[in-house]
Amino acid sequence: MPSIAVIAGDGVGKEVIPAGLRVLGTVASLDVEMLPWGADHYAETGAMMPGDALHRLGGHDAIYLGAVGWPTVPDHISLWGLLLPIRKAFQLYANLRPVKLLPGVAGPLANRGPDEIDMMFVRENTEGEYAGAGGRVHEGTPYEVAVEAPVFTRLAVERVARYTFDLARQRSGSVISVTKSNASRYAYVLWDEVVNEVAEGYRDVVVERMHVDAMAARMVLRPDTIDVVVASNLFADILTDLGAALQGSLGLAASANLDPTGSRPSLFEPVHGSAPDIAGQGRANPIGAIWAGALMLRHLGLAAEADRVEAAISQVLADGVVRTGDLGGSASTDDVAEAVISALRRRARTRANGTGDTE
Ligand code: NAI
Ligand code: MG
Repeated sequence: MPSIAVIAGDGVGKEVIPAGLRVLGTVASLDVEMLPWGADHYAETGAMMPGDALHRLGGHDAIYLGAVGWPTVPDHISLWGLLLPIRKAFQLYANLRPVKLLPGVAGPLANRGPDEIDMMFVRENTEGEYAGAGGRVHEGTPYEVAVEAPVFTRLAVERVARYTFDLARQRSGSVISVTKSNASRYAYVLWDEVVNEVAEGYRDVVVERMHVDAMAARMVLRPDTIDVVVASNLFADILTDLGAALQGSLGLAASANLDPTGSRPSLFEPVHGSAPDIAGQGRANPIGAIWAGALMLRHLGLAAEADRVEAAISQVLADGVVRTGDLGGSASTDDVAEAVISALRRRARTRANGTGDTE
């Protein structure tokens, strides 16, 4: 039985993760350890997670995380106290983020449907602009200086490019590599060179290079021309929030932080944060968290179970009856989780009866 470390975290993380676990429990048996880390832990101990946290997480097959961050803790402390150390220590170098408009959801783009919005972003997840290299001098004086130095290494660009090209082979065979190699002439020029070298080994994959500003416009104007995208930590962070908006709600977006070598536990989370503005009210959309759970099942080798969960999510959205406020409905987090579970059970009965199953 796969063993899962669960960090629900803060705010709506504490609502969407239990909902996600109930759905996952319908299709798979998971050995779950709940870890109460985050802002409350910080208030009690001065740290977002205990000193042996990475050691404890390392013993699990995967990590399922809600969101971390709360108004009582500065955001750079909560992020650097939990999520970023996990991504870096476990070298979860490929952050996979599907951007897919599901049937039944009204996206913000006029005349664009599910056939036209179906992208897969791969975010370099260990360095770039979030490497943490830098410092401040002359603090609090008029001469104060802050340096935040992006770090790009051949190794990290190469491994994320390889992962992306392999992924593209399973999809349309096209990759867009996003940089800003006109203005940033060291780091992104290295990025382009390494991507070109990797591309040599994938002659069947078509590579296109785009600057990030033009890419933002293209996602809105011609989303139908985009399939697999690889970008740096910062660029993909920003573009995938735009992607989540194209999906119809931040509450729908899921992500997988992967160690593709499989030697460390990968981490699965919704893209959204702790949403303090709606936390504690049971109104958060759990679908991003449930979808992240499906990505986790697939990573654990439970592909059929993952497909079932994704099909049930699509079913509930297509039915359009049970929806949270972000999608214009009035259902609660739990209502949506129950609707997904009912859809799973209905589909299971259909399968058992041997009548048409379109999965
Ligand atoms: P946010 O994603 O928490 O919220 C942005 C907006 O989206 C809010 O209006 C919120 O109500 C809405 N929203 C988010 N998730 C939703 C859901 N499941 N259903 C319905 N509506 C949803 O981003 P924000 O406000 O910038 O950050 C809040 C806190 O979360 C901060 O402390 C931030 O650092 C942290 N954060 C943590 C992340 C993580 O753990 N991976 C990612 C992003 C932010
Ligand atoms: Mg983000």
